[in-house]
Amino acid sequence: MARLLRRAADWYLRRPLARAIVSGLPWVGPSAHEYLSAVAQQSSPDSGRLDFRAAADSCARVDALILRAIRDHHYLSFDEINEEYRALVAQQFSDSGRTIDSFLRQLQETTDQQRLLSTLPKPTLKIRVEKDFRSVSFFTEDSALRLSVPKLLWDCVCKTPEPPEWTANATARLSPACPIHGHPLGALVDKLFASGLVAIRYGSIEVLYRDMAEFWPPAIDSFHLVDTLRKQRVFDEPYSSVLDIGCGTGFLGIVTACECRNLCLVTMADWLLTPILFSVVNWARNSAVRPGISLRLRLGLNSNWITDDRASLPHDLVLCNPPYLPLPDEFRKIGLSSTVAGTELLQHVIQESPRLGKAVYVSFSELAQVEAGQAAKVAGRKLVRLGEPLHSPFRVTHVFDNREYLRFLIEERGLQVRMDSPHRLWHKVSVYKVE
Ligand SMILES: C[S@@+](CC[C@H](N)C(=O)[O-])C[C@H]1O[C@@H](n2cnc3c(N)ncnc32)[C@H](O)[C@@H]1O
Repeated sequence: MARLLRRAADWYLRRPLARAIVSGLPWVGPSAHEYLSAVAQQSSPDSGRLDFRAAADSCARVDALILRAIRDHHYLSFDEINEEYRALVAQQFSDSGRTIDSFLRQLQETTDQQRLLSTLPKPTLKIRVEKDFRSVSFFTEDSALRLSVPKLLWDCVCKTPEPPEWTANATARLSPACPIHGHPLGALVDKLFASGLVAIRYGSIEVLYRDMAEFWPPAIDSFHLVDTLRKQRVFDEPYSSVLDIGCGTGFLGIVTACECRNLCLVTMADWLLTPILFSVVNWARNSAVRPGISLRLRLGLNSNWITDDRASLPHDLVLCNPPYLPLPDEFRKIGLSSTVAGTELLQHVIQESPRLGKAVYVSFSELAQVEAGQAAKVAGRKLVRLGEPLHSPFRVTHVFDNREYLRFLIEERGLQVRMDSPHRLWHKVSVYKVE
């Protein structure tokens, strides 16, 4: 993979369009350009072995490159962006005489999954989430930090920005008000969360995660989505196939496989490689709780998968917990730093719902209500809210230093300010059925 990455950078340097775009943008150009140039000059042999640590590191490097290169292209049409994305991904694989198709097929093979599992490092931190979010416990090797009725999976208030200036509260690190850092074990748990493999247990399933900008753990909105679907008896329907689109750790697909009795096929799709790799590992690690169900993997922007199988659509059930941070043109730069920014996937799933699935459920924040509403209107769809909204702290730390963006969210998108909570910023997240 390292060699593939290097070839991808070679490709980049030979592509005038990509080069012009990356190096021509003042806010990102020089650093992305230098990064890609540096990668192009590295020479490290590709071992060709499916070892978890090597695969995870390579996927992370490729994802960082894809995230920046593709999010830079916002002023191109979707078809042009998609073409660049596909060319970039294809180049990663071509030199090893492989295709993304063969790579995904290999990941779907049980023997290769077992090989990945046999090379897994031990998780350095275990997290247990109780049903209905009654508590979250963090287990280190020999001790535990338990939070009752936490507001978030990572219920830290240290970086909360403060009005009137809305800048991040940098001096409050290890604040006594912080449920995590106010605890004697907080600093250790923080270090373990940020540096190693983290195992997150919810009921009978456990998913692995590692902290990075291109990857997202099952967060409070993922648990709220699952709890809502369960309460609405969605999992009691005789669905035989599910599409988990924007799969992250594969959490939603794995939960559905455990809950839906008639399920035969789970498709997990994402636009980055790390989520695909972790979804496979998590699927294999949870094999005992969902025997006899096949896994299929898809890589691509929205549902424009590189391995084209439109014939397999629509699925019986589609679940999506997409990014929900709106990115008007003046704030586009925010999309470069994390996979959770932007509303493209949310809008795509709403607009394309009849093609994707017979029953389509999506979870999103009221911050993206404008974009979701526009997508529904364009496609003539209706968004029917299920259950109660989740009132949740807004803790997307990479935007906490951008006071103009926070003001935009507060003044135009309904981000709530609460001075009675150490989490100053709150929003509402709801689950919708697209009809
Ligand atoms: C908020 S995370 C949710 C992860 C997981 N479904 C969960 O609930 O824990 C959103 C996921 O969507 C993926 N994603 C974002 N934009 C996408 C796009 N345009 N096409 C496909 N996947 C996308 C991200 O890589 C990320 O894994």
